[in-house]
Amino acid sequence: MTMKHADETTHFGFESIPLGEKQSRVNDVFRSVARRYDLMNDLMSAGLHRAWKNAFVAALGPSTTRPFRCLDVAGGTGDVAFRILDAAGPRAHVTVLDINGDMLAVGRERAGRRYQGRIAFVEGNAETLPVAGKSVDAYTIAFGIRNVPRIDRALAEAHRVLRPGGRFLCLEFSKVDMPGLDVLYDAYSFHVIPRLGEAVAGDGESYRYLVESIRRFPGPNVFARMIEDAGFRRVTHRLLTGGIVAIHSGWKI
Ligand SMILES: C[S@@+](CC[C@H](N)C(=O)[O-])C[C@H]1O[C@@H](n2cnc3c(N)ncnc32)[C@H](O)[C@@H]1O
Repeated sequence: MTMKHADETTHFGFESIPLGEKQSRVNDVFRSVARRYDLMNDLMSAGLHRAWKNAFVAALGPSTTRPFRCLDVAGGTGDVAFRILDAAGPRAHVTVLDINGDMLAVGRERAGRRYQGRIAFVEGNAETLPVAGKSVDAYTIAFGIRNVPRIDRALAEAHRVLRPGGRFLCLEFSKVDMPGLDVLYDAYSFHVIPRLGEAVAGDGESYRYLVESIRRFPGPNVFARMIEDAGFRRVTHRLLTGGIVAIHSGWKI
């Protein structure tokens, strides 16, 4: 490691930490919450995450007739992958890639035999994808990219693995842009969610990180420029639920 890298810092929630430490701290969070992750999503969002993920898959519009290969990065327990396969035709295949074996283990159990031959679970890092260049039709990432230490590297990798004409689609927390809702959202995020995390997953600190990391993530216009800088074209975004989340789309042309 060069001195330059050794000196680099980043944020872990509101904490400033050496860049090289972030991934292992993130991995600790998801190892700790994996078994309660899906239940917590329902409780924290009052089920809203389901509507956001459904809107995300509708925006993707996977082919119902043609072969369709999708790489779902930071795919965790498979929630987005299952929705894509339910919406797509029999010739669709989704690879759920995640750095955390505990999250993938829950995903494998949830999938059971339902999607046999149409789904694969792969342990890997979004910054160095173990995937051939120009090999997928779509790259999806939901609530994942803000956890990746070097977002620019993850975006460059997304661009590399997509075939020309392929689609990049990201669902992530964004910036609330509705007066009134922002105050309520902050109060709920900082006071209720960590307590819920403590009560349900036995880990309030991990949920404090998740809330803080949302505040650290760039706003939708800045993130759109980062996607363009990675080489994507026709980059657009759409805010959902007053800006609580955003869907960013880009094309490899
Ligand atoms: C909030 S979960 C999202 C899971 C799933 N996409 C969903 O929407 O339910 C974030 C996921 O990102 C994964 N992750 C964090 N850093 C990663 C990296 N560098 N490469 C791949 N996955 C990563 C975590 O292990 C975790 O499973």
